[in-house]
Amino acid sequence: MFVLGIETSCDETAAAVIGPDGICSDVVYTQEIHQKFGGVVPELAGRAHAEKVVTTTRAALQRAGIARPDGVAVTAGPGLMGAVLVGLCFGKAAAAGWGVPFVGVNHLEGHLLSPLLEDPAPEFPFLALVVSGGHTSLYLARGLGDYTVLGQTVDDAAGEVFDKVSRMMGLGYPGGPIIDAMAKTGRPDAVRFPRIEITPGSLTRGSSRPRTALDMSFSGLKTAVRTYMQRTDGWSGPDVAASFQAAVVDVLCARVLAASQATGVKQLALAGGVAANSQLRAAMSALPLSVFMPPKSRCTDNGAMIANAGRLRLLAGQSDDLGLTARSSWTPGT
Ligand code: KG4
Ligand code: ZN
Repeated sequence: MFVLGIETSCDETAAAVIGPDGICSDVVYTQEIHQKFGGVVPELAGRAHAEKVVTTTRAALQRAGIARPDGVAVTAGPGLMGAVLVGLCFGKAAAAGWGVPFVGVNHLEGHLLSPLLEDPAPEFPFLALVVSGGHTSLYLARGLGDYTVLGQTVDDAAGEVFDKVSRMMGLGYPGGPIIDAMAKTGRPDAVRFPRIEITPGSLTRGSSRPRTALDMSFSGLKTAVRTYMQRTDGWSGPDVAASFQAAVVDVLCARVLAASQATGVKQLALAGGVAANSQLRAAMSALPLSVFMPPKSRCTDNGAMIANAGRLRLLAGQSDDLGLTARSSWTPGT
């Protein structure tokens, strides 16, 4: 079965085809228009998707050498609604026109399952850490569609903090790759930034979800970096980048280790844009776990992860009707 995957939830217009032997094509167009604003502007993202979604999809089909897929999978959320709707409406129309099954994919489930495209791939059950610009969650994945949230950030997402710290340092957007590169010449122990612990039992502000020891927090770290820069004349960019990055990596590694100890699960799937971070990849690989992660280019948003998740669901006999609506917030597996 050849499945076309379409992703338009944020600032990548992406399309890919996956067949029985794996990825046949994977085309990603990154919208550069947001760079001058220092972050994604939702209205501009939606318009840019509308301009590119047809050519991106056509390129994916051409590179895969197929005129018509056997199914269409499209991100249906979570994400920027104006952006999600472009891909979702286009994907539904394409599926209807071709007369093939359609499936709406949860973007986070796309990331979560993306390490299954690797060889070797994890086998259920596995832990999955999805670290992106909008989300930072640790899951126990027991099977397709069967995910338990073990912990998540109670404030900023890890990628969001990379982007904000980059902006504070006067660097560009997206901040993750810039800080990653700059940290290579800095000292990770130059500044001891806080690794915020979560108190089990207390309540998350604004929600009724109890905080667990596996929850994470990054906004205090962001404030600590800002305070340090305000108070320190001649702070070193590479040292701040490396020290900040070390704090994020420590928090994430500690949660993964604790989750493994609590569940007895020894496989970890690492995914999402921040999974492209070189220090995070090295630190996770050094843990006493089997770690599976996509290549850096497929950690950030792409169509292959949507085609993969959609194909698995179609092969499991699941599909959606064309009345499916977009969801701005959506926990995978619900
Ligand atoms: O998964 P993604 O492409 O989009 C969302 O679903 O949010 O993740 C984008 C995020 C951005 O915050 C970006 O700064 C971060 O991933 N990112 C990185 C790196 N590459 C991208 N963060 C740290 N290190 C990187 N090398
Ligand atoms: Zn993403």
